[in-house]
Amino acid sequence: MNDIQRAVELLRAGELVAFPTETVYGLGADARNPAAVAKIFAAKGRPADHPLIVHIPDATHLDRWARDISPAARALAEKFWPGPLTLILKRQPAVLDAITGGQDTVGLRIPNHPVALELLKAFDGGIAAPSANRFGRISPTTAQHVRDDLGDAVAMILDGGPCAVGIESTIVDMSGPRTTVLRPGMLSAYEIGHFLGRMPAEATGASPVRTPGTLEAHYAPETPLLVMPNDSLPIVLRDALVKQERVAVLATFPAPFAHPLIEWQVAPADPAGFAHDLYANLRLLDSLGCVRIFVEKPVGQPWQAIADRLQRAAAGSSVKSAHPANQKEETRQ
Ligand code: TXA
Ligand code: MG
Repeated sequence: MNDIQRAVELLRAGELVAFPTETVYGLGADARNPAAVAKIFAAKGRPADHPLIVHIPDATHLDRWARDISPAARALAEKFWPGPLTLILKRQPAVLDAITGGQDTVGLRIPNHPVALELLKAFDGGIAAPSANRFGRISPTTAQHVRDDLGDAVAMILDGGPCAVGIESTIVDMSGPRTTVLRPGMLSAYEIGHFLGRMPAEATGASPVRTPGTLEAHYAPETPLLVMPNDSLPIVLRDALVKQERVAVLATFPAPFAHPLIEWQVAPADPAGFAHDLYANLRLLDSLGCVRIFVEKPVGQPWQAIADRLQRAAAGSSVKSAHPANQKEETRQ
């Protein structure tokens, strides 16, 4: 039996299988099996009312999960699937409440990764999968990250190498008359707007749709993280050195000078490269026992999704550390 067959058998038996997608690794369970879905929440330590994305093998499965699908939603699916796009649509009545968080909508996606697609085709059904990290932690972009976070809590981890995109899918709500981006991703609102011929709205706090993944305190390292404009970096570094503090920096340019108290990680200067490496870089810098992680503030539209994740990482790490500088960062939002 090969790995895919074994994974399918485990899913059919109600077990959890972690698998690679092009965005991040997912923690998969049979989306029709309530006991299996409950295991996801237990393994992640995730609040029970947070809805899950159902991954499907192809667009013919859309109508099994969703109803009242608009032509625009079908067109988006056709254009961008398989790919880093999740559509929020009206649910079919049979979809489990544990999947939808008790809402009248369901999130659906066809991931663009050969292993995920092979698994979904062999399973021939919906696989519910959040990111395969513990709740509130940094999403995994390698099989080793999943092992580090979840270890024995999962029956099997399919290793598909590092994720190509590196941050979670763009979530677009098409369950009502308005098209709204609930979570930005590397598939930008502009690409979606260009294709549809009208710009999607951006989510506001007033949105009736709950998207717990957009909680402030998410995607967070343990080490307090601060996002800094690059011309502020020399100032905060000088300050850290005066205090003899060991700090980490993630920036798109090399360190202007080397110092034993400064751990400097150079990130790719293009958004796709930066996103690809982002979570691995944050995990690495988080493991070094520094007092703080400073990240160069990304500027401009192509960096929007990255800026979003960094802002949440800053807010999440401040909840964990209650560092005064980080609290300021959080209340700013
Ligand atoms: O790229 C991704 O989307 C990855 C891979 C594994 O596909 N999955 C992922 O899942 O990021 P998760 O659970 O970490 O984040 C999914 C987000 C959550 O914020 C959840 O609240 C939102 O999708 N979501 C799911 N179903 C929803 C629904 N019916 N209405 C509103 N938000 C929903
Ligand atoms: Mg997640």
